[in-house]
Amino acid sequence: MSHWFRKTFPVPPLSCNCSILADLHTKEAIVVDPGGNSEKILYELQSLNLRVLAIVHTHAHLDHFLASGKIKEATGAPLCLHKKDQDLWNILEIQCRMFGVPYIPVPPPDLEIQEGETITVGQFSGLVLHTPGHTPGSVCFYFDETGILLTGDTLFRGGIGRTDLWGGDSQAIEHSIREKLYTLQEKTIVVPGHGPESSVGWEREYNMFVTA
Ligand SMILES: [Fe+2]
Repeated sequence: MSHWFRKTFPVPPLSCNCSILADLHTKEAIVVDPGGNSEKILYELQSLNLRVLAIVHTHAHLDHFLASGKIKEATGAPLCLHKKDQDLWNILEIQCRMFGVPYIPVPPPDLEIQEGETITVGQFSGLVLHTPGHTPGSVCFYFDETGILLTGDTLFRGGIGRTDLWGGDSQAIEHSIREKLYTLQEKTIVVPGHGPESSVGWEREYNMFVTA
């Protein structure tokens, strides 16, 4: 466990939490949701001499992948996305216009990720949970042994993701949270796509939007 590394920090333009997960022993890493500020993300990777195996996305809203092209260019790592968010990825330029954010082209995803798939980071591994609702292809990443759940915009501390954007579904997000996230160990740390961290137990107890 001592060589497990995680750094999470908000990136512009919309304060998405980007995470770097790494095994400091093997120097292998993944980047989750590089929504902007590629310079900072690359600096963090280089300062620990990490090799990026994959760039993974919880979903294809602009603020979660605007820097993905730059990170791929610099590291050679593949871009990974659930196929049900491919349509959203394709309309990045429209998303940017709608939110008044300068458009930065991003190449298409290289690999599909799907429910039950394993994401490997050195000797650590995480599970892909398909949690539709915020978007059709929203996923969470659950690293059992390190007790971390990256929830993207599906679950926030005391809140849930909006469902009024393209492909949003309020019944689906409730079902995803109840059946796939609230069933995990209570002490699991929730690292959301925006805002402060939480835990599965805290959300089960206090989240007013989806009760256990
Ligand atoms: Fe989102």
